[in-house]
Amino acid sequence: MSSTAPIGVFDSGLGGISVVRQIAQDMPHEHVLYFGDSANAPYGTKTPAQVRELSFRIVERFASQGVKAVVIACNTATSAAVNDLRDTYDIPIIGMEPALKVACDRGQGKRQRVIVAATPLTLREHKFAALMERFDQDHTIFKEPCPGLVDVVESGRLADHDLVMHTLHGYFDQYDLSSIDSVVLGCTHFVFYRDYFRELLPDTAAIIDGNEGTVRHLSVVLESLGKLAPETQDGSVTLANSDPSERIAALSQQLLER
Ligand code: DGL
Repeated sequence: MSSTAPIGVFDSGLGGISVVRQIAQDMPHEHVLYFGDSANAPYGTKTPAQVRELSFRIVERFASQGVKAVVIACNTATSAAVNDLRDTYDIPIIGMEPALKVACDRGQGKRQRVIVAATPLTLREHKFAALMERFDQDHTIFKEPCPGLVDVVESGRLADHDLVMHTLHGYFDQYDLSSIDSVVLGCTHFVFYRDYFRELLPDTAAIIDGNEGTVRHLSVVLESLGKLAPETQDGSVTLANSDPSERIAALSQQLLER
């Protein structure tokens, strides 16, 4: 695959568009093919086997489109499928996981109290258990599954302030938020809620997502393979979705330009 080939980026639906925005910002010469699987969203309440099957279908499509790398812009699909995908395809596959390390490192040795907001599947899977094990001796980590936040994005109600705040309060009022050092947005859909989380949380709590780190990793991998797009190339983003409706196309474009 040449350096001018596109990068395939996918998610269960619209959340991965937050990662596409980061790629467009940090790697402006790259062509990105995005595939959102909104017809099958959410992934976070499915079984790992179902999510694996859906992920393979999408990567097969990317392989036939000649992508030079795949970004799984979905923590859930990464948990369920990244290892099997890497065993099957001879394309670099970049996964995502909740940025728990970033949250814990912020303490510089001081015990941190961290809430990880993600999908039920991500928080249940072995991959997250292994990540937790690295940090939960030295830090206090709360796992908070928030499937309702995925639905709000997919149904195009992200601008409904009252609905969003009501949904957030439903998940987070159980915590003494003034004692929390950070909230990790461990689902790419949740990155679109950053301003709402800011409104919910005291200023002392940081809001952390993995998008920037993921794109940095993508860039390092492509550079090591000599496959970064030439600087003479103007990058582009092409959006596709398993839900062919006008509504999803318009919503996708709106989130990209947000
Ligand atoms: N955006 C996805 C993630 O990062 C999953 C959302 C869902 O379909 O449940 O985990």
